Amino acid sequence: MTAGDVGIGIVGYGMMGKAHSFGYTVAPVMRPLRHRPHLRVISGRDREKVASAAAAYGIGTWLDDWRELVQRPDVDIVDICTPPGSHAEIAAAAAAAGKAVICEKPLAVSYLQAAAAVAAVEKAHVLNAVGFNYRRLPAVSLMKRMIDEGAVGEIRLLRATWLSDEFVDPAIPFDWRFDRSIGGTTIADLGSHVIDMTTWMAGPIAEVSGQSVTFVRERSGRKVTVDDASSALVRFDSGARGVFEMARTAVRRPCDFTLEVNGDRGTLVFEYARLNELRYGDGGDRSELYGMRRIRAEHPLHPYARDWWPIGQGVGYGSSFVNHLGDLLDRWPDKPWEPDFAQGAAVQAVCDAIERSAAERRWVEVAEVMDNRTPSPAASPPPTHKVGR
Ligand SMILES: NC(=O)c1ccc[n+]([C@@H]2O[C@H](COP(=O)([O-])OP(=O)(O)OC[C@H]3O[C@@H](n4cnc5c(N)ncnc54)[C@H](O)[C@@H]3O)[C@@H](O)[C@H]2O)c1
Repeated sequence: MTAGDVGIGIVGYGMMGKAHSFGYTVAPVMRPLRHRPHLRVISGRDREKVASAAAAYGIGTWLDDWRELVQRPDVDIVDICTPPGSHAEIAAAAAAAGKAVICEKPLAVSYLQAAAAVAAVEKAHVLNAVGFNYRRLPAVSLMKRMIDEGAVGEIRLLRATWLSDEFVDPAIPFDWRFDRSIGGTTIADLGSHVIDMTTWMAGPIAEVSGQSVTFVRERSGRKVTVDDASSALVRFDSGARGVFEMARTAVRRPCDFTLEVNGDRGTLVFEYARLNELRYGDGGDRSELYGMRRIRAEHPLHPYARDWWPIGQGVGYGSSFVNHLGDLLDRWPDKPWEPDFAQGAAVQAVCDAIERSAAERRWVEVAEVMDNRTPSPAASPPPTHKVGR
């Protein structure tokens, strides 16, 4: 049922270059696609490494310059898998060349940069999407569907954490992740997923109060310019309240993310370590059943389940890329993609607001970041006491 071929050019051969190559390769195996993706070309700065990645990922051509990649006539979609500080420039060049653009998260390292990327794709009228792949895990998708269907009632509270140990060891050498201008913050690296999923489920965030800390301030003799860990209190437009925590310094926590929603009628909990399941507490259950039931998000009635293995076999991280890229290809070439750059920029505004709040020790409205406003004096009373670092 393939209606046509789509040429893919991937910029960046690292972990995400591999994950996206996997997604394009496996999607047509698992589900009928209207358009078959062809991995035409991959680019990277290191010729030896990009050549060996191209061979491993089954991509016929490699280049050492992304500028050449975005101009190629056999590329319909430019898929950006490089560090965040490079996204906006590559996206703008790809859009100007008339290519659809898929960009890894976070969309940029600042709201201003993200807004420029949005302006570029809108001006060029090209399809655009941000790599918030975790939405497409079956259990996370089911959580969203259950919330929309009223399973928890009106959302009152949201709790989300993303904990990793990738920055624990002070001997880890300096790389792009420790440089604010190219890697962005931990708030954006881990928090952008949390912000995307919670706003997808509960609507926009109005204001935040954040705190940030950097425990290891120097690596390989260079100054670390990003936070190791941050957290935030959050108020949604709807009035719901949230608590977010993102840390790359949580010992023996590999990539543990959790989402919990408490409504006036029920509770839903997702834990990444058990990614095929949801826990659901239904306030309408008989009292003898007090507690939470464990839902296996693999039934053929559940999102994406029909595309995967028989019930009970489960899926993993890779399925989120297969589902994400498969959904985008299904909508090629004329149906809008989701989440798009505008949603990526809205997430970036929340990241910037948390960062600003932590730096200035006050609640920050997200609109203040989007309008590039400075706060009214009443909104930021001076601190009445001195606090350590
Ligand atoms: N969605 C997810 O699950 C997920 C997971 C990990 C990373 N990411 C995101 O994917 C992006 C890439 O991360 P990764 O883990 O693949 O990184 P990586 O370090 O494994 O690979 C980065 C790639 O970009 C290239 N590169 C490095 N510095 C560059 C620069 N200054 N300019 C241009 N290219 C440069 C490298 O040569 C390499 O090809 C980041 O935005 C990251 O936040 C997303």
